[in-house]
Amino acid sequence: MCGIVGYIGNKKAYPILIKGLSRLEYRGYDSAGVALLEDGKLNVFKRQGKVLDLTNFVADNPTNGTVGIGHTRWATHGLPNDINAHPHTSGDGSITLVHNGIIENYDILKKELIKRGHVFKSETDTEVLVHLIEDIKEKSGASLAESVRIALNEVHGAYAIVVISPEEPNKIIAAKKSSPLVIGMGEDEYYLASDATPIIEYTKNVVYLEDEQIAIIDRYNGLRIFSISNKEVSPYVQELEMQLEELEKGGYEHFMLKEIYEQPRAIHDSFRGRLNAKEGWVSLGGIKDYEDQIAKANRIIIIACGTSWHAALVAEYYFEDLARIPVEVEYASEFRYRNPIIRKDDVVIAISQSGETADTLAALKMAKEQGATLLGIVNVVGSTISRVTDAGSYTHAGPEIGVASTKAFTTQLVLLAMMALSIGKKRGTIEDKKFQTLLDEMEALPSKIEQLLKSDDYIREVSAIYKDAPNALYLGRGSSFPIALEGALKLKEISYIHAEGYPAAEMKHGPIALIDENMPVFVIATQGQNYEKVVSNIQEVKARKGKLIAIVSKGDTTVREIADHVIEIPNSDEFVVPILATIPFQLISYHIAVMRECNVDQPRNLAKSVTVE
Ligand code: G6P
Repeated sequence: MCGIVGYIGNKKAYPILIKGLSRLEYRGYDSAGVALLEDGKLNVFKRQGKVLDLTNFVADNPTNGTVGIGHTRWATHGLPNDINAHPHTSGDGSITLVHNGIIENYDILKKELIKRGHVFKSETDTEVLVHLIEDIKEKSGASLAESVRIALNEVHGAYAIVVISPEEPNKIIAAKKSSPLVIGMGEDEYYLASDATPIIEYTKNVVYLEDEQIAIIDRYNGLRIFSISNKEVSPYVQELEMQLEELEKGGYEHFMLKEIYEQPRAIHDSFRGRLNAKEGWVSLGGIKDYEDQIAKANRIIIIACGTSWHAALVAEYYFEDLARIPVEVEYASEFRYRNPIIRKDDVVIAISQSGETADTLAALKMAKEQGATLLGIVNVVGSTISRVTDAGSYTHAGPEIGVASTKAFTTQLVLLAMMALSIGKKRGTIEDKKFQTLLDEMEALPSKIEQLLKSDDYIREVSAIYKDAPNALYLGRGSSFPIALEGALKLKEISYIHAEGYPAAEMKHGPIALIDENMPVFVIATQGQNYEKVVSNIQEVKARKGKLIAIVSKGDTTVREIADHVIEIPNSDEFVVPILATIPFQLISYHIAVMRECNVDQPRNLAKSVTVE
């Protein structure tokens, strides 16, 4: 949800900013812009469209400055056009800034500033903030940093900002509240970005700015950090574990395909040091100290958004079945505004790939105020959710760049499965034999997914048949029902085909009315306790001439006779079927989107990290 970058040092800022913006483009791609300070002059370039459109626009202009800021936008206030693009500049041209977040009281501030003679060009909340800083600076004669600090005391909402001024050409001022900001510490140079991906190729040493902190970076005097109430704090420098290769496409046509194929490795990384089937144990170091509390929990509340919410739905089956603890799954955006009942012996688990989703964060903060224990299942190391929770575990999927979540989802499932197994074991609610079987099943996942990926050519052929369908239905039962939801979400996100996921048995209460010979129905019909029931549901689809694409267990003959196409997954306990059945659905969406010439990695209107409500 908007990406911001900044640079101050001895190198030319422009190429660093552009490369950084390309890495952050997953956060929004409505417009892009940069501002550079060169010989005491401020040059601002901004353009509707992608970073590539910006570079074409800038082409032969002067770009020699060694201080600069940049932005890639996901529009909230105002259309995605050139004028609303960031950076935004004060009326007198002395201050320019980039912003990620929302200034909620922008309207009141704007009216007051207009009364004082300020003239606005854009419809954005961000332009109000830069005028407010200008107004304060002019009236008080304070420095840029002090004016920023005073202004931030007047705004409500979320912000990560990076500010520069030709009047203080050797400084960058940055601040954050509820939107992320990382500072990379080079040799006499500093990088700023919404996440570490633009920074990793220059330095591994970073400082994550905390909420309501202001960083003053001076070319000659280095970095100093102050709280918004003006108390100096010492920067805490951390070392990044990320590798640069993880951010490249590595020969794949799209990040999404690369990330689908990375799943065996990603799941293996999730297991490392946490699960050993041969020795018969599973243990999550990150939550070890909280295991007793989880085992004694009155209930587990899982909060998440989007694909992560689907992982939460699967976890409900895992925890209730194996650990016998009641689970409630909540959309973070609904939970936070519902005045929910949260008790001290509730354990709240937030699931989030980015660790920055605004609604999930706000819901967590609310649960914290009411005394619940907070755990995080997060992919991005060092992200806000990983820092505000009492404990948690990283999924270790590695950076996920494609906007549609793939490996982050399957590793979330793996982690939640491990958590349910370890808590079930602790509570004595899982028999030893079943425990061992499930550990074996888990450990076999990477090689089973490798096997499954070998069907990719066949899956592409099947996808080609349905690429022009206007609608699609996805069905599953039990813990495969959330996978039907996820399959449908993936298809609509990246190929813009309307798709719905339904519990297979619920189909007859509505969606069956939609079924005719043009409706592809994707169904998970693997061996397990619901198999025969699903076969009956499949018959109901066929009786209405629907086109059936079934995911079945290897060697299945019954469904093969009824369905138009079957995609086999390796024989497995139904506990791991949600993880395996996800893969063909990911590939189907991917191939259909490619065939429809959609932008697979950056689907329209979406952003990977949603840091606004
Ligand atoms: C956005 C992304 C989804 C993601 C959701 C929740 O909508 O496009 O892929 O599932 O946010 O994000 P999180 O980072 O909290 O998992």
